[in-house]
Amino acid sequence: MGAGAVQEQREGEKSPSTIDCPQPMRSTASRSTRPSMSNDNQFDKKSRAWSALFSEPMSELVQRYTASVDFDKRLWRADIDASLAHAEMLAAQRILGADDHAAIVRGMAQIAADIESGAFEWKLELEDVHLNIEARLTQLVGDAGKRLHTGRSRNDQVATDVRLWLRGEIDSLCALLTALQRALVDVAEPNAEVILPGFTHLQVAQPVSFGHHLLAYVEMFSRDAERLLDVRRRVNRLPLGAAALAGTSYPLDRERVARTLGFEGVCQNSLDAVSDRDFAIEFSAAAALCMVHVSRLSEELILWMSQSFGFIDLADRFCTGSSIMPQKKNPDVPELARGKTGRVVGHLMGLLTLMKGQPLAYNKDNQEDKEPLFDTVDTLSDTLRIFAELVGGISVKPEAMERAALKGYATATDLADYLVKKGLPFRDAHEVVAHAVKVAIAQGVDLSELPLATLQTFHPSIGEEVYALLTLRGSLDARQVLGGTAPAQVRVQIARHRARLGPA
Ligand code: ARG
Repeated sequence: MGAGAVQEQREGEKSPSTIDCPQPMRSTASRSTRPSMSNDNQFDKKSRAWSALFSEPMSELVQRYTASVDFDKRLWRADIDASLAHAEMLAAQRILGADDHAAIVRGMAQIAADIESGAFEWKLELEDVHLNIEARLTQLVGDAGKRLHTGRSRNDQVATDVRLWLRGEIDSLCALLTALQRALVDVAEPNAEVILPGFTHLQVAQPVSFGHHLLAYVEMFSRDAERLLDVRRRVNRLPLGAAALAGTSYPLDRERVARTLGFEGVCQNSLDAVSDRDFAIEFSAAAALCMVHVSRLSEELILWMSQSFGFIDLADRFCTGSSIMPQKKNPDVPELARGKTGRVVGHLMGLLTLMKGQPLAYNKDNQEDKEPLFDTVDTLSDTLRIFAELVGGISVKPEAMERAALKGYATATDLADYLVKKGLPFRDAHEVVAHAVKVAIAQGVDLSELPLATLQTFHPSIGEEVYALLTLRGSLDARQVLGGTAPAQVRVQIARHRARLGPA
């Protein structure tokens, strides 16, 4: 094979056969049996020099620096699936002979089996997952392997692989989010009546149902799932056919490949198809937001488990001890989740920064999209999986929660609302209650512990019935508005979530 042909392979990423034999697009059968001009596998030479154009081999350091196979081999199944769909279409379009197609299918089956069993030998000098698989295919089935790359470039190949892989991961993450929501609903249900001090500014504000508090996270995680599904629609577009950057002169049937691979459509601009990674960035944004939600939950679990709160306990299997302090039981899992949120947010920043300076179309910078993306998926899926279990292992201490709720004049708003119902404007009622709280603080008692005569000094319209409202339970039960914390409303929401999430 001439130097020009090999160089063409590097630059335009076209297969040798497209150069050896440019014209007979539809002369299939003869074409597949026709020997190629050379029996050399050009991949064999790569450790010596990329092509005849080059007068020296790549240094080992540069090889290591540019190679991605150590991490992108993870895309192998998507790479093979996409190659098979491409080959099937080439055959249907009579660009590839039936024999060659059969050989490719056979070779890929062997490669998939070898990768699965661990027998496949990944070679750093073959740079990435794509060249490793293609080189092995050519080794196994000869010229048919060399013809696979017809009308394709690694640029549209890698964009396709990442999208295929990410689509599958999104589906797994959505299932994990469903499991976590179910776990939260399972804990919320028996705790609908349990009273927790609700906080604003981390100061006791109003009593809330512990079940209601947990359902707040169910809302967050259901939006996270919604966001992932929305991102999925844009991930699920086919880049193949864009080739290196400009499209290809072969009469490819892109819609057919899209259908075979389950893509919802094809990318409509070849330059955009190979160059943009916005789908990975928006996935990372959705993932980072989901981790932020987990992190907030983690922070609460950590606080609640501390001696100062003592609201819950976490099952021992999610905690560790201290090497020096024998009394310690530390909530390591939520702490790590809170910490790992930082790295996922960091990956989002990394990907945005990776993209911002790149001119169209493909640049090697894009190879750097994989590690952050992989780590984002791994971190999020491990975290969601652990949290679905951890939530089930929460033991609730209702007395401690209720005791804390009693401390902070959590029913003051209820007294104000009572006065409003007696005809006072809300702002005046607010002021009256502020005086009452001041006196109660000075006497070291709760509002409900002030005698009626004292309460009436703040406003004469206050009657005996006020005491029912000044209890935590009364305050909770009064919040019957849709989305409110009254246990009856919490149960309405639990039923809605159960219907939405379906049975486990
Ligand atoms: N390993 C490369 C990546 O991840 C594949 C595409 C290489 N394309 C190229 N023209 N060098 O982006």
